[in-house]
Amino acid sequence: VTPAISTDTQREHLASLPLRDKRFSVARRWVECNNLPPGAPGDIEEFLHRQMNEEVNSLECSAKSLADFPDSDWEMQLFLARQSWDESRHAVAFRLLYESRDGVLGATPILNFQYEIISGFTTLLERLIIQNRSFEAGGLDAIERGIDENASDPDLIQLYDSQLADEILHVRFANDWIRRHCAKKPVTVLTLGRTYAAAVRLFNDVMGPEGVAGVAAAPALSRVEAGFTQAEIEASAPPSRDGSGSR
Ligand SMILES: [Fe+2]
Ligand SMILES: [Fe+2]
Repeated sequence: VTPAISTDTQREHLASLPLRDKRFSVARRWVECNNLPPGAPGDIEEFLHRQMNEEVNSLECSAKSLADFPDSDWEMQLFLARQSWDESRHAVAFRLLYESRDGVLGATPILNFQYEIISGFTTLLERLIIQNRSFEAGGLDAIERGIDENASDPDLIQLYDSQLADEILHVRFANDWIRRHCAKKPVTVLTLGRTYAAAVRLFNDVMGPEGVAGVAAAPALSRVEAGFTQAEIEASAPPSRDGSGSR
C-alpha cells in the first residue's frame, strides 16, 4: 500500500493500514473525501460516517498498544482496555445515528490516517502523546464546536455529550501519565516536543491546507478538565483528530 504521507523524513514512522471490507473506499488524503460545505444536504450524514471510522481507528490504536506493550503497568493496561471499549461504543453510536438517517455503510470515502500515523511509532510514550494528547485533545475541541453548532439536532448533541465525557478521561489519563513520566525523567520533555512536531507534520500532510483551513477556535473548556494547563492551551495549535477537517 502506498503511504499517504510523502514527507521522506517521517516515512519510518508509517505503519501499514488497517483492513476494511470491500464496501468501504479508503481515501489517503482529506481532499479525496466528500467534503461538503457545512449545511449542504448530506453534510451531517457524511460526517457521521467518517467519524464512525475515526472511532474504529481509535479502537484499533488503543487495542494495538495494549497488545504491543504487554509489560506496561497494570493501571496502563486497564486504561487501554477501557479506552478500547469506549471507542467501540463511540463507533457503534455514530453508526446507529448514521443508519437512523438512512445512511449506507461505505457510501462515502473514509480516512485511516490516525492508525497509519499512531501505530507507526514504536514506544507507548510516543503513541500516547500523539493519540491521546494530540489527536484526541483536538477531538475535544471538535466536539465542543459540534455542540455549539448543532443545537437544533438533539440526537447529535446527546451523542457528543456522552462521547465527550469519555474522551476527556482518555486525554486526562495520558496527560497525567506523561506528566509523571516527565517528572521522573526530565528528558521526556524533549520527546514530547519532537513527537508532537512529527505528529503535526504527518497530520498536515494528510489534511493539506484545504483540510485545516477555516477551523474555528474552540472554547477549550474540556482541555482544562482533561488536565492541560492554561499555558499549554494557549500555546498549542494541535492537529484535530476530526477527519472532517474544517468541520
Ligand atoms: Fe472516541
Ligand atoms: Fe478516545
